[in-house]
Amino acid sequence: MNHFYGKSFLKETDFSAAEINYLIDFAIHLKSLKQQNIPHQYLAGKNIALLFEKSSTRTRSAFTVAANDLGAHPEFLGKNDIQFGNKESVADTAKVLGGMFDGIEFRGFKQKTVADLAAYSGVPVWNGLTDDWHPTQMIADFMTLKEHFGSLEGLTLTYVGDGRNNVANSLLVTGAILGINIHIGAPNELQPTASVLEIAQNAAAKSGAQILVTEDVTAAVKNADALYTDVWVSMGEDVDYDKRITQLLPYQINEDLLAQTGKEETIVLHCLPAFHDTQTTIGAQLLKSHHLDALEITDDVFQSTKSVVFQEAANRMHAIKSIMSVTLGKPFIPESIF
Ligand code: CP
Ligand code: NVA
Repeated sequence: MNHFYGKSFLKETDFSAAEINYLIDFAIHLKSLKQQNIPHQYLAGKNIALLFEKSSTRTRSAFTVAANDLGAHPEFLGKNDIQFGNKESVADTAKVLGGMFDGIEFRGFKQKTVADLAAYSGVPVWNGLTDDWHPTQMIADFMTLKEHFGSLEGLTLTYVGDGRNNVANSLLVTGAILGINIHIGAPNELQPTASVLEIAQNAAAKSGAQILVTEDVTAAVKNADALYTDVWVSMGEDVDYDKRITQLLPYQINEDLLAQTGKEETIVLHCLPAFHDTQTTIGAQLLKSHHLDALEITDDVFQSTKSVVFQEAANRMHAIKSIMSVTLGKPFIPESIF
């Protein structure tokens, strides 16, 4: 029996707390199989379409390696390679791809696109990031927290920065589903929208998670077991970078902010890519014009032993492997878990 078989993962609320916890634990199990070189070809003979409207390093690599390890064949379909959205509708593309592939990953702009792909393709669809949500990132992030702390129970995670982007939305809602306290430190105009907050509050009412959304960065980080940030301008956003920098500079993760958690053991996460130094073309120009050394996270914190960002990035592959294998393969899963 496989509880997840045939399901899509389009947004966090598609799964219950028990199901998300299972995905995390199965990812940890698959990681240990990989480390021991034990084969786990749950998707032998399957074909996976990887549809990308936006660019990606981690998500594309994670889906590709996970598919290969699971015995499936991944096929990258970039936005300029196929007719999708230009000469052919999403619905027609979904029907065509669903007639050939066994599963579809989509990264792009609108949530409606990934929902339509699922509605019309007839195969499992996985959201590799939209403007609204980044669900596969969540399995890796909470997996990383579980690996580090041994348990998720009682943890407080504080996200600082653009509190309205896909990653902030996803952290808020996933934490609320799982019963983890989520604090968002962000200026008023970049705090979660009322609709996202309502989803999170409904989930928190069931799980007991405490939610705090505040402009006061000191209050937001107090007692945090984990600090999390993301880029200040997301892919596809058309905003004034200078204004964003001014708005979000007080929310930068640096040594001073880290000390304000009041906890020695606080760790730092970032979904990446990050502007922590001048080693990128966009970052170098921005930092020079603002006389800054870093944007959302300083290099000393990014490189410190508190930072688990590269463990988190590597976990993307194990998390995506977990999601694909249970929704498309048939590993044995006792129904009593749910
Ligand atoms: N964190 C993340 O999704 O990275 P990519 O944009 O490189 O896939
Ligand atoms: N909020 C970021 C996440 C990147 C993984 C973006 O959408 O660009």
